[in-house]
Order: sequence, then structure tokens, then C-alpha cells
Amino acid sequence: MYDRVGGMPFFEQLTRRFYDAIAGDAVLAPLYPSDPEQFEQARVNLRGFLVQYWGGPPTYSDERGHPRLRMRHAPFVIGDAERDAWLAHMTEAVRSRGLAPLDETQMLTYFQASAAHMVNAPG
Ligand code: HEM
Repeated sequence: MYDRVGGMPFFEQLTRRFYDAIAGDAVLAPLYPSDPEQFEQARVNLRGFLVQYWGGPPTYSDERGHPRLRMRHAPFVIGDAERDAWLAHMTEAVRSRGLAPLDETQMLTYFQASAAHMVNAPG
């Protein structure tokens, strides 16, 4: 997948669009760092994770260790509203990239499942 979608530039653009949307989202923005450098670092962390997950270089784990994503999200209250907002922005970001239909479906299916998995305060 990493090579098919165009490698690093794809994930750079995907996470930029996604994080721009988060910055303007009333539900999600309060969960993320307000300091611009930390906000940018959060984006770079997501970019690195997705690059690695989809078959690119494993820089994320080299720098941050095993992802353990549910555990890393434990400090944040993630209910249905947060999941829906996160998924809506990610879906919009993925669709904006003009992927081949099967690649787009595979990516969106993954984000649906992983976003549901991150909910730690159902309701
Ligand atoms: C369901 C709604 C979700 C919410 C509200 C959410 C929120 C957050 C927040 C607040 C952070 C911390 C940012 C920071 O302070 O550095 C974070 C980090 C992260 N999130 Fe999510 N997230 C969600 C779902 C997901 C999903 C589905 C994935 C993966 C597909 C994901 C991947 C990551 C990664 C890789 C990090 C950085 C972890 C690290 O290395 O520290 N998140 N998320």
C-alpha cells in the first residue's frame, strides 16, 4: 500500500489535511496540544505510525517503541462523539487524495475499525 499510494508525500498530505481539520473542530481540538510545536509533533507521530502500518519505513517504532495505541489514548476521554468527529475528518482526508477505489476502501475500513477500537468511554 505504501508504494501504491505514493509513499511519504501521501502520508504527509493526508496528515496535514487531517490535522488542519482537527485544529478547527470544537470536539477534538481541546484534546490535542495547544502549543504549535507539540501539535506538529503529534501530527508527525501519526504520520510515522501510518507510514509504518501501511508498509513504509519503521521509523515510528524506532523512535517511539511499540505503538500500543489504545494505551497511548487512555489519557483522553474518547466517546462516540470523539470517534465520529475523528473518523469524519480522516474519511474526508482520505477521500481528498484520489486513491484507486480498492485502496481507498481498504484504508477507510481500517480507520473505521481502529477508531472504534480507540473508544474508551462509550456513549
Ligand atoms: C477515535 C478517536 C481518536 C481520538 C479522539 C484521538 C486522539 C488522539 C490524541 C489526543 C492524541 C495525542 C496527541 C498528542 O498529545 O501528542 C493522539 C495520538 C495518536 N493517535 Fe489518536 N485518536 C483517535 C483515534 C486514532 C486512531 C484510529 C489511530 C490510528 C489509526 C490513532 C493514532 C494515533 C497515533 C499514532 C498517535 C501518536 C501516539 C504517540 O506516539 O504518542 N488515533 N490521538
